[in-house]
Amino acid sequence: MGWPIAHSRSPMLHNYWMREHALNGVYVPLAIKPDGLAAALKALHPLGFVGCNLTLPHKQQAMTIVDAVDDVAKRIGAISCVTVRADGSLAGTNNDCFGFIHNLKQEHPDWRANAGPAVVLGAGGGARAVCYALMQAGATEIRVVNRSYARAQALAAEFGAPLQALPWAQRHAALDGAALVVNTTSQGMKGQPALDVRLDALPTGALVADIIYTPLETPFLAAARLRGNATSNGLGMLLHQGRPAWKLWFDIETTVTAELRETLERSL
Ligand SMILES: NC(=O)c1ccc[n+]([C@@H]2O[C@H](COP(=O)([O-])OP(=O)(O)OC[C@H]3O[C@@H](n4cnc5c(N)ncnc54)[C@H](OP(=O)(O)O)[C@@H]3O)[C@@H](O)[C@H]2O)c1
Repeated sequence: MGWPIAHSRSPMLHNYWMREHALNGVYVPLAIKPDGLAAALKALHPLGFVGCNLTLPHKQQAMTIVDAVDDVAKRIGAISCVTVRADGSLAGTNNDCFGFIHNLKQEHPDWRANAGPAVVLGAGGGARAVCYALMQAGATEIRVVNRSYARAQALAAEFGAPLQALPWAQRHAALDGAALVVNTTSQGMKGQPALDVRLDALPTGALVADIIYTPLETPFLAAARLRGNATSNGLGMLLHQGRPAWKLWFDIETTVTAELRETLERSL
């Protein structure tokens, strides 16, 4: 469920797994206006759905509609996945942090969260999921740099150590000595200007990730690749966040194969 929803690649992802696991089911995009979210969620059970994913602008509002919100969703402040339980009640969780960390682990098996400081650019919804994932994975220093400093400070105060807020003016210098840098801002997305961050201070051994996947390689990732840094785009986060949903909905373990990645890449 989202508004708008036509751009979503989730139907392609989940219907790939429907075919792979020979399930007699279908994953459909549901264009739901914000004022229709409660009615739409309550209709899942009578309509025979096992659950749904939520995207913009519903992730926060859904917290007040579902019957149970787990700890991960509470900490992130947003629901990305709803499961219809046997009695028809609705349980909400957030799989974005799982998606981010499991994609990094699949693409860069030697990467360790405690290898050195991580820099997270941005402090919005995506940043909250990335910071939470890094904390859970054992990161010891996370520098949150955001255009609105107050938002970075609020996030650091809420999540506590190891987060540390830095003003946007320090975004270039903040990369000094970092082992990981993640762009969670909207800058570099199709239709948006490139992210204005210079990579000079970043060690070439650092991993550079972007959670944007349109385009697959943002100008930020291209600049990192050209100077020799390993990179990771945002598509893998989307693919991997689908896995826990399948576990919840069907008790099936899914995998992100090279063929699945290529199928989605071709559609972008
Ligand atoms: N791969 C995935 O599965 C996945 C999951 C979630 C999100 N995403 C992507 O992540 C991006 C952000 O999404 P979101 O939900 O986190 O959005 P959001 O909550 O609206 O946050 C947007 C962030 O971008 C920053 N920003 C916006 N314009 C900027 C500018 N001109 N210069 C510097 N910073 C700017 C904002 O800073 P201020 O606080 O100063 O406004 C904020 O930190 C989107 O491209 C989205 O598609 C991908």
